[in-house]
Amino acid sequence: MALPDDFKAALSSWASGVSVVTTNANGLLYGLTVSSFTSLSLDPPLILVCIDNRNRFPTMVTEAGGFAVSILARDQEAASNYFASSGRLPTPNFTTIEGEWTEAGQPAVKGAAAHIVCKLHDQLQRGDHTIIIGEVVEARTDDSKMPLLYWKRGYRTVTT
Ligand SMILES: Cc1cc2nc3c(=O)[nH]c(=O)nc-3n(C[C@H](O)[C@H](O)[C@H](O)COP(=O)(O)O)c2cc1C
Repeated sequence: MALPDDFKAALSSWASGVSVVTTNANGLLYGLTVSSFTSLSLDPPLILVCIDNRNRFPTMVTEAGGFAVSILARDQEAASNYFASSGRLPTPNFTTIEGEWTEAGQPAVKGAAAHIVCKLHDQLQRGDHTIIIGEVVEARTDDSKMPLLYWKRGYRTVTT
């Protein structure tokens, strides 16, 4: 098999949701788009995301001790593109994409289909990514929102 192209092509067949993980480390806000969000455990309530080791997010989460996951709604492609663009720097305020504060003091994307707020549980560096495990302290859902999906390198949604 001609890895890694065959590997990437196979992975692109996996339809996923699109989320933005955000954190507030010493008053600096930062986030990035991730499709690697997964539920891990119900008791205790744990979730995980896998983040490229070159990204500043794992270091910032260690400093912050927590983070939020915003599960994007289908009208939030602009937020996904913004938080996937290269070279964004941490900022003291929300910029470009409207944000809101969770009760636990983490920044999140406004208008998302759901928010999950976590306390940092563990971080494991494996290969070129870091698995960040969060213990869920807050979860909120807007049932009126349809999800944004990612499949075969493009945005999709569900039709119901
Ligand atoms: C739909 C989608 C899903 C993504 N999922 C992940 C992911 O799970 N983990 C990750 O590290 N990067 C993921 N990325 C890429 C990051 O969002 C992107 O590399 C990062 O925001 C670039 O910022 P930087 O160059 O400043 O590090 C994804 C991008 C898109 C568009």
